Amino acid sequence: MSPCIDTVRLHERIERLAAIGRKDDGSCCRLALTDEDAEGRRLVKSWMEEAGLAVRIDRIGNMIGVQPGDATPVMTGSHIDTVATGGRFDGNYGVLAGIEAAHAVASSGVRLARPFAVGVFTNEEGVRFEPDMMGSMVYAGLLPLEDALAARDQSGVRLGDELARTGFAGEAPCGFPRPHAYVELHIEQGPVLERENLVLGAVTDLQAISWQEISFSGVSNHAGTTPMSLRKDAGYSAARLTVYVRELAQSIAGQVGTVGSIRLQPGLTNVIPRKAVMTVDLRNTDDKRLKLAETNLGTFLMRIAAEEGVTYESRRLVRTLPVVFDPKIVAVIEDVARSLGHPAKPMTSGAGHDAQMLASICPAAMIFVPSVGGVSHNPGEFTAPAHLEIGAEALLQTMMRLAET
Ligand code: HGY
Ligand code: MN
Ligand code: MN
Repeated sequence: MSPCIDTVRLHERIERLAAIGRKDDGSCCRLALTDEDAEGRRLVKSWMEEAGLAVRIDRIGNMIGVQPGDATPVMTGSHIDTVATGGRFDGNYGVLAGIEAAHAVASSGVRLARPFAVGVFTNEEGVRFEPDMMGSMVYAGLLPLEDALAARDQSGVRLGDELARTGFAGEAPCGFPRPHAYVELHIEQGPVLERENLVLGAVTDLQAISWQEISFSGVSNHAGTTPMSLRKDAGYSAARLTVYVRELAQSIAGQVGTVGSIRLQPGLTNVIPRKAVMTVDLRNTDDKRLKLAETNLGTFLMRIAAEEGVTYESRRLVRTLPVVFDPKIVAVIEDVARSLGHPAKPMTSGAGHDAQMLASICPAAMIFVPSVGGVSHNPGEFTAPAHLEIGAEALLQTMMRLAET
């Protein structure tokens, strides 16, 4: 019998995994290598083994499950770590659908020319440890393992020590197997498919990403007695930069800009802040325009410092180039989508994904399904069950075709 996705089990497992690290507002919080992430990893690893995958954990904690077979595998995968306000589907859906695809082939008895592999990559979100897409970056040889192991979170905890503490400091070398091809299934996390009433997206490319941490240093002083003309207010400087990031994004075609966090010190009502530490996330599909945005941000930083009498430091956290996925893989996805009666929209990914790192070592592309209201990184993240099922079927069919190439 031909392989088919166990959709009941897929939905059950999405809910089961979402229950780990669930907060009162319904969001999932499984930051990389926390106890919650480790609990989710153990559960998913058991499901990978139940699907007949031989699971190896590599030295950065990636869990790589491979079906028996000598040929270079067709790989899928994603991540199960979340942002602090995560939804049920971001990353998790791609991993669980990938496991279902492997399970479907294994239980059907069909012999493909190539085995399937499923990757669960460490720290895709980059919330606790930077950079994001860390595990897949090391897997693709784009980030030295030692640098990743040395990453520290805001309380100074070292990533390598957390791998050991949670039992996910694997022995396997990173980057194996080198896949024949890689396809990642993911929710769109944006409004495009829903707006066009489509079910599937064939992701052709992914925008460049620039993350910086900017620290302003001023002088803390009494909020009541210090004349406005004498202040060196780090908080005000951060606020001006926040407003500027919005104006900057609106002034450059295709540019998006986000100030996601600002931490003030001492953070007291009646004390002028002496320090502000903030993050700036800039993205564009056109790297020249992203460079222009980065340059203009730097110029504005100097202006704020001169006008307010504060100093600043900027620390680069992430810088990735635009990624163009493999047109042949995209064509297979489009053909499969047509065969399922849901023509796929060729589209760009606004979010970063592990697939962008795998694309540097093998032909890769992605399949998107709609996000209701375009909402993600939010407990309101939702995709219709029928769309989840169609996406999983599209992944299975695409991987089966690639397994015969
Ligand atoms: O930041 C991103 O785009 C991804 O969610 N890590
Ligand atoms: Mn994701
Ligand atoms: Mn995400």
